[in-house]
Amino acid sequence: MLFDSAHDRFIRRGGTLEQTPAWRALAEHFDHVKDLEMRRLFDDEPDRFARFSLELGPLLLDYSKHRITAETIALLVDLARAAGVPEAVSAMLGGERVNWTEDRAALHVALRDRSGRPVEVDGVDVMPAVHRVLDQMRAFSDAVRKGRWLGATGTPIRTVVNLGIGGSDLGPVMITRALGAFHDGPEVRFVSNVDASDFVETTRDLEPAETLFVVASKTFTTQETMTNARTARSWLVEALGEAAVARHFVALSTNREAVAAFGIDPANVFEFWDWVGGRYSSWSAIGLTIAIAVGFDRFLELLEGAHAMDRHLAEAPLEANIPAIMALLGIWYRNFFGAASHAVLPYDQYLDRFPAYLQQADMESNGKSVDRDGRRVGYATGPVVWGEPGTNGQHAFFQLIHQGTELIPCDFIGAVNPAHPIGDHHATLMANLLAQTEALMRGRTEAEARAELEGAGLDAEAVAALAPHKVFPGNRPSSTILLDRLTPRSLGMLIAAYEHKIFVQGVIWRVNSFDQWGVELGKVLARTILAEEQALLAGRDVDLSRHDSSTAGLLRRFAERTE
Ligand code: F6P
Repeated sequence: MLFDSAHDRFIRRGGTLEQTPAWRALAEHFDHVKDLEMRRLFDDEPDRFARFSLELGPLLLDYSKHRITAETIALLVDLARAAGVPEAVSAMLGGERVNWTEDRAALHVALRDRSGRPVEVDGVDVMPAVHRVLDQMRAFSDAVRKGRWLGATGTPIRTVVNLGIGGSDLGPVMITRALGAFHDGPEVRFVSNVDASDFVETTRDLEPAETLFVVASKTFTTQETMTNARTARSWLVEALGEAAVARHFVALSTNREAVAAFGIDPANVFEFWDWVGGRYSSWSAIGLTIAIAVGFDRFLELLEGAHAMDRHLAEAPLEANIPAIMALLGIWYRNFFGAASHAVLPYDQYLDRFPAYLQQADMESNGKSVDRDGRRVGYATGPVVWGEPGTNGQHAFFQLIHQGTELIPCDFIGAVNPAHPIGDHHATLMANLLAQTEALMRGRTEAEARAELEGAGLDAEAVAALAPHKVFPGNRPSSTILLDRLTPRSLGMLIAAYEHKIFVQGVIWRVNSFDQWGVELGKVLARTILAEEQALLAGRDVDLSRHDSSTAGLLRRFAERTE
C-alpha cells in the first residue's frame, strides 16, 4: 500500500499523529466547539438535517445530532485526505496487499462485484473463481431448498446446522436473522461454542436423516469448530452409518486438504480464498446457509446492496461519503472527546444480532495498538462496540447513556416500513427511536425539570430535592440510519457501510484492520492447558511450575473436583 503523503512521511520520520497539521487543526477546533450545545445549533440552523444527512438509495444517514459544525466536517475530511484514505481505498479495491502483516489482499469487495469487470490479485483475475463458487452455491442451495438434495435414507433435508465460530458464524447468524421475513427455505441453526451444551441443545430435537451439517471454517483448524464437527459426525454416523457422511456434511473452507482429511467429499467443498478475511466472509461460500434460508436470488440481492456501497465508497467525495463520515465521526468522539465506547441500537428485532456481529467486525479489526511502522500508538484506537435492539435497551442501559458520566455516541438503526404491519407496533417502535435521539440531543435543563415538577403539584421542598435527578445533560450525540425497508439489498448496504467505516478508521489510526494476532496467544495456551488437563485427569503427575499460582491452582482444582 502506498502511503507517501507528507502526513505519513512526517510520522515515519518520528513525528506523531497528533503533531500532524491536520490533527493539530482539529485539536484547536475542538477547543472552540467542545462546549457547543446541539440545541443551539439546531435553533440557529433550521436546515441542519438537510445539511448533515446523506442518502444512498434506500439508506439514509442522519448525522445532524452530532457536536459538529460544517468546519468540523471539513477538518475531519482534511485529516482523512492527509492520512491517505482515498489512496488506501483504491489500494483495497484494487487488490493490493493491504493486509500487510499477513501479506494478503483484503478483497471481500470482489465477492460482491457485480460490474462484470475483472478484479485482479497479483495479476490474476479472481472473478471467474468467484462466479464458479457462486454457481455452485446456487445449484446446491436450490437442490436443498427444493428437496432434491436427499439424505442417506432418501428423505429431503429439513434442518441445516452451521458449525462455525467468529466470522464463520456471526455474519451468517446475523444475516439469516435479519432476513427472517424472507426465510422460506429449510430451518437453519447454528452451533458455535465448544461447550457441548450448544451442540446438544441445538440438535436435541433433530432427525439425523433430515439434517445437513455445514462445517464453516476458513482454516479448517479452529478448535471449537473441529470439535463440534467431530461430535456432529459421531452423532450422524451413530444413527445412519459411515456412508451417510457424504450426504449430510458439506464444508466451506479455503483448506481443501484439511477438509479431505476430515472425510468430507471433495465434491461437497465450497471454496474461498485467503484474501477473504473471516469477519468479511459472509459474502463468500460462508454465506451458503444464508442462500439456503432465503434463496440464492436474495443472496445475490444482498451482494448487490453491498456492491452499491462499495461503488459509493470509491466514487463519492469524502464529505458526501457515508462510510467515511461514519468513520470520521467515530474518530471525533474517540480521539477528541475521549469516548471509550460506541453503542449500536437497531430498532428492528430482525437485527437483534447486529451488535454482536459488529463487535467482531469492529473490535477484531481496530482493537490494535501497534501502527503500520511497528510502533506503539500514542492515541486511542477502536472503541468498545456494544448494543441491543430497541426498545429493549431502553429498559436496561439507556439510563446510563442519558444520565451517566460517560459520553457514548450511539447509532440508531431503523426501517421506515415494517416487516409486519400490525396495529400500531411500528409507529410505536419508531416513535421511541426518534424520541431517544431527540432526548439525548436536547436533554432537560434544571429549569425545565423544575417547571415539570411544579406542574405536577409538588411543593417547593420536593421540587428542590428532586429537580437535580430529573435533569438530563443532553448534548449526547447520535447518528440515525433509516432504511426504507429491511431487505437483502438494504442489509447488504448497511453491512458494507460499517465494513468500510472500520477500514477508513484503521487507515487514519495507521493500524492493520485485517489481521487479528490478538486472538492467537489464548488459543496457543489453551492447547497446552488442554494437554495438562487430560494428563491430570488420567492421574499422571504434571509439572505445572510454568504457570502462575492462580492458573496452576485452578487447574488442580478442576482436576480434583472432576467427578
Ligand atoms: O478468533 C479469530 C478467528 O480467526 C476469526 O477471525 C475467524 O472469523 C474465526 O477465528 C474463525 O476462523 P475459521 O473460519 O478459520 O474457523
